[in-house]
Amino acid sequence: MNVLGIESSCDETSVAVISNDRLTANLISSQDFHKNYGGVVPELSSRAHLQIIIPLVKDALKKSGITLNEIDVICATAGPGLIGALLVGLTFAKGLSFSLKKPFIPVNHIEGHIYSGFLMEEKPKFPFLALVVSGGHTLLLLVKSFSEIIKLGTTVDDAAGEAFDKVAKMLGLGYPGGPKIQEAASKGNPERIDFPVASLKGEYDFSFSGLKTSVLRYLQKNYQGKDIPPQDLNDIASSFQKAVIKALIINTEKALKHFQPSTLTLVGGVAANKALRTELTNLAEIYNKKIVIPDMQFCGDNAAMIAFRGLKIFETGDRFDLSYSPYPGLK
Ligand code: KG4
Ligand code: ZN
Repeated sequence: MNVLGIESSCDETSVAVISNDRLTANLISSQDFHKNYGGVVPELSSRAHLQIIIPLVKDALKKSGITLNEIDVICATAGPGLIGALLVGLTFAKGLSFSLKKPFIPVNHIEGHIYSGFLMEEKPKFPFLALVVSGGHTLLLLVKSFSEIIKLGTTVDDAAGEAFDKVAKMLGLGYPGGPKIQEAASKGNPERIDFPVASLKGEYDFSFSGLKTSVLRYLQKNYQGKDIPPQDLNDIASSFQKAVIKALIINTEKALKHFQPSTLTLVGGVAANKALRTELTNLAEIYNKKIVIPDMQFCGDNAAMIAFRGLKIFETGDRFDLSYSPYPGLK
């Protein structure tokens, strides 16, 4: 049984193959050029997906030692994401499905992230608590099975990754902000500035826009028109990162206590953050819970998670016709 996965929702083109339940390829091509514009330019992203998708599929098949005709099911991200970018991967997958006469499975990108812990040797156990932190979404979920997900909380404004990206921009660190902030933060003092952590009505909801504004005010007050000395910059990054992690930990801890899940998982692009990985691992230890945090290659956008999620949908017997359209928002 050979499953082909295709991901093209934002600025990563990725193709993966799962062969008899074993991941044999997970190729990721990142569109680095967006950094010249300070963020992802949708039209350029679509064009870049279009250029790379065929060679990437060829490489993934070669790496897996199979031919196109040996593919049994084709899965592709249908949303949420940039509509033009999604169209490239989804239409390509539908075309393949038509020509090979093999089923096509549309996959929700967030669900891909949610179940990405299953790509690890040590797998989550149901019911598990999932903290999903990406560039576009911040969610706390109770995942009961491959078909039942209960949403406990979400962000009321910016996503965690978005906050990293915006604050990095304010600090002149460039795009994508997460890794840049992490690097600066590792050289800084997290106790230097006491940035606020929002408390909200929704018990498990998050908010990061107040924190972002507070960093902006701090910069305006202290460095109006002046360069930020390197050590100050590192301290600001470190204090900001600490506040984001604190906000994420507070709600996760509440949910851990209340729902007593078997496993805690941390997934999505921001799950690549080392300090967050460490803090969440410590939290799980305190509550004697199993923790699954995917390897780096499965944190950011990747097709392995799309192939895995697609396979699980395929196994339920659900089938989709080729009129299936991409969707930009959460479904
Ligand atoms: O899941 P993802 O690759 O794309 C979306 O589905 O949005 O997440 C991308 C986000 C970006 O906001 C990026 O800055 C953030 O993940 N990110 C990080 C780190 N690496 C990537 N945030 C904090 N620390 C990191 N090391
Ligand atoms: Zn993502």
